[in-house]
Amino acid sequence: MKTEILTILKETEGFVSGQDLCGRLNVSRTAVWKVIRQLEEEGYQIEAVRNKGYRLVQVADVMTEAEIGSRLQTDWLGKHLVYYYETDSTNVQAKKLAEAGCPNGTLVVADCQAAGKGRRGRSWSSPHGSSIYMSFVLRPDLPPYCASSVTLIAGMAVASAVREETGLDAQIKWPNDVVIAGKKVCGILTEMSAEPDFIHYVVIGTGVNVNQEAFPEEIAGTATSLRIEKGERIARAGLLASVMTHFESAYETFCATWDLSGLAADYESLLLNKDRPVRVLDPKGDFEGTARGINEKGELLVERQDGRLEYVYAGEVSVRGVYGYV
Ligand code: BTN
Repeated sequence: MKTEILTILKETEGFVSGQDLCGRLNVSRTAVWKVIRQLEEEGYQIEAVRNKGYRLVQVADVMTEAEIGSRLQTDWLGKHLVYYYETDSTNVQAKKLAEAGCPNGTLVVADCQAAGKGRRGRSWSSPHGSSIYMSFVLRPDLPPYCASSVTLIAGMAVASAVREETGLDAQIKWPNDVVIAGKKVCGILTEMSAEPDFIHYVVIGTGVNVNQEAFPEEIAGTATSLRIEKGERIARAGLLASVMTHFESAYETFCATWDLSGLAADYESLLLNKDRPVRVLDPKGDFEGTARGINEKGELLVERQDGRLEYVYAGEVSVRGVYGYV
């Protein structure tokens, strides 16, 4: 009921009467009043005037189930939403839900993670009130080798949403870090349960640095937040909803062909590495070259210094700028 009341308040220009709310939701005035109080406690400023009703004055950077639910504009992604004020890791929770049979598109969001996970066994610092920590469950009818492409789509969705919501020049460092001004603002951790020819589920975990004012010294050179780059706070729930909209649309394009052929041009328009020198960290031997773009499998095309072309696969190699992180 909280999500419905919030949505009505947001959609109404002036006041909405208590009676109107009761009638539309088929609940008592006391129940409406209780929800209004809860919303105020969560940080919303709501004006209440006798004989007029309620009016939403200000929407703060609130990350609650109701706020996220009132902003989502997707058809299926995030329709089943699980919200935690604090949890260990949204990826861990999403995997538990997936094992228990949750629907395709289930979204897990937390305001804080006590054991946030990064790639390659690293941890992901996840304090309260500053970032987006979310994971969603997909049950694609695709062969397992397609899963890494889905990770690229997630990076693309975040970069597009950041550009749309903030106007910042967000780009993708292949395969899926989102970078602004040479520093990372978003990391994506994809986990999968599969058999050789069948995916049980994929969990896409995304951490976006939104409102941090500073970073610890050891990562300050490579990490940034939208607030640092924009110079103002950004409402997390609106950005999250925009990421979901972009992902849902791109994923549907991907599923039509099982490859990135319909998305490669958009991806490359956001690709920071395009036509830039890169060092490929390959277990078979590092090499340098110039990144030229991606193919329909999401592999990075690298032109070696001797002119030979190599497609590099994200699962096997990582790529650095020749002079540093990008
Ligand atoms: C990386 O190392 O770049 C990936 C970081 C992924 C962090 C996100 S935050 C939400 C989700 N839950 C986790 O425990 N990790 C991912």
